[in-house]
Amino acid sequence: MDVTISASVLAADHGALADAARSAAAAGADMIHLDVMDGRFVPPITFGQEAVRALRRTVGLPLDVHLMIVEPERHIASFAAAGATIITVHAEAAVHLHRLLADIRGAGCRAGVALNPATPVTVLEHVLDLADLVLLMTVNPGYGGQSFLTGSVAKLARLQDLLRGLHPRPLVGVDGGVNPQTAPLACGAGADLLVAGTAIFEAADPATAIAALRRARPEPRT
Ligand code: DX5
Ligand code: ZN
Repeated sequence: MDVTISASVLAADHGALADAARSAAAAGADMIHLDVMDGRFVPPITFGQEAVRALRRTVGLPLDVHLMIVEPERHIASFAAAGATIITVHAEAAVHLHRLLADIRGAGCRAGVALNPATPVTVLEHVLDLADLVLLMTVNPGYGGQSFLTGSVAKLARLQDLLRGLHPRPLVGVDGGVNPQTAPLACGAGADLLVAGTAIFEAADPATAIAALRRARPEPRT
């Protein structure tokens, strides 16, 4: 299976998000990643449902909505109605993660769960059948342009152990500091989906950058 590239518009000009999403689509991205931040779960405040709605009108790609917010259960229905394809919540922000993931699917979206670097993968043990995506944060969330935490490779291996034998199994994604140098580490440890902001939007040529990320996935053995 080819690696999936989700372009994070956090790194783009927020005055021209639609242009950024269109250019990422033209450059070959598979999804558009929207980092919703509330100033509480993480310090910055970014954008909300209206930005999702606007991008839904702009591009045909799936919208991968990463909620870095407290009390995410209050906002699932509205992000689903705005056009989110995947809604990812943080395990650290969810008091009732099991119910929350079921509710995301119930709202017609694919359910993602994100883990901060300090959170062990074992917190997912009893919800894996409810998750379509497990997103390992490979930086501490809140900001683009940080360096990939190399300890994430061991964590990805732990996650693979947890997923062994599970059918169907969720996609495994990584988010933060992903670039053509770090993507092979993540893909070599089993990542199926790469979220990248800076590496795409600050590249001289986003299409070349996306192609370089795509090459990170080792060829499947025949
Ligand atoms: C960080 C966000 C990321 C961010 C990644 O909290 O969740 O999606 O956009 O940015 P880069 O690719 O610049 O590390
Ligand atoms: Zn993100």
